[in-house]
Amino acid sequence: MADNDKKVRVAVVGASGYTGGEVVRLLLEHPGVELAFLSAERNAGAALGSVHPWLRNHPAAAGLRFRPLAELEDVDMAFGCLPTGALPEQLPVIAERAERVLNLGGDFRLRESGDVESYYPKTAGNPPQEDFAYYVPELSPSVPKSRFISLPGCMAVASVYALYPLFAASLVEHRVVVDAKTGSTGGGRGSGEPPAERSGNFRVHKLHGHRHAPEISQAIAEFTGTAMDLRFATHSLDVSRGIMVTAYTDLRPGVTPLDVKRAYAKAYVGKPFVRVRTAPRAPQDFPMLKAVVGSNVAEVAVAVRDGQCVAVAALDNLVKGAAGQAIQSMNLICGFDETAGLPTTAVSP
Ligand SMILES: NC(=O)c1ccc[n+]([C@@H]2O[C@H](COP(=O)([O-])OP(=O)(O)OC[C@H]3O[C@@H](n4cnc5c(N)ncnc54)[C@H](OP(=O)(O)O)[C@@H]3O)[C@@H](O)[C@H]2O)c1
Repeated sequence: MADNDKKVRVAVVGASGYTGGEVVRLLLEHPGVELAFLSAERNAGAALGSVHPWLRNHPAAAGLRFRPLAELEDVDMAFGCLPTGALPEQLPVIAERAERVLNLGGDFRLRESGDVESYYPKTAGNPPQEDFAYYVPELSPSVPKSRFISLPGCMAVASVYALYPLFAASLVEHRVVVDAKTGSTGGGRGSGEPPAERSGNFRVHKLHGHRHAPEISQAIAEFTGTAMDLRFATHSLDVSRGIMVTAYTDLRPGVTPLDVKRAYAKAYVGKPFVRVRTAPRAPQDFPMLKAVVGSNVAEVAVAVRDGQCVAVAALDNLVKGAAGQAIQSMNLICGFDETAGLPTTAVSP
């Protein structure tokens, strides 16, 4: 699709939401893309800059408006940014007009029908006409050829980046505890949480039954061939963007700290957007939100003592956890440089 003469024509479906707006923000700077269509539901008809004021000063934003999905035109790539449960109904319209679909939502990530019924009940009775490939750019063996592609969940992929090297090299026992903390944009624009209740607070989100738990187990099994016994709890942070996960495991007998260090180096060598923090000592050496927010980078680190292994990962839920991951995937699918249009520096202080 990508050559010098022809830009990739892109639709952002659900462009007035948080992830859709972030896809638009990043694609406005992408050299090989034409933003051909932006959809919204309640915001259909509104100008881009009135819904996302942070985009209004880009020269190319001036003429852009949201349109109803029913008016979708032919595009090379559609980014699906609809709330959980909305895609199955809208997929026939998108599939008719888009050559390929990169879906940021969770509807078609899980393979076990029992898991789909439990965690995505609106999706269960409405399977897609073709399977969705589950794609993590750093871990999937190849770029998928499928028309329909599911990208990973934000807390799921942070957890998978933290755990993958340990399971890929068979260094740890199967029991894993993952504690994940996420910022407020993780719930989408329609979450309805009063800001005053988030502000100055740190609270539980879900101690059991988060839908990213089966996804983490599925991804680790798919990419390493290992079945995990996972405990997964989530918490809500008083920040707008960012996810931090802490994963606790026990090393298998005979595994050394050097084995662990080598496993992380090997897993992410040559991967521009997963950066291992080697030999962190001071707190600021470890992965942290202020090093990743605004960027497409996931930071990872691991520490071992007395057979106990603690791995951490931090990323921006809207960038590496959603829009940036999707654009990185588009880059690889369309033959662009993997890093095109994607920031590696954070916005801080
Ligand atoms: N937020 C994150 O950090 C994050 C990270 C990774 C993945 N995801 C996934 O990405 C998807 C989008 O999340 P989000 O946070 O961007 O949600 P959001 O802020 O609530 O945005 C939803 C978008 O979908 C549109 N929409 C709502 N219902 C629709 C319908 N029935 N038909 C067509 N369009 C409809 C909305 O339009 P109006 O504005 O006009 O209502 C809006 O543009 C979700 O599946 C979520 O799980 C989110």
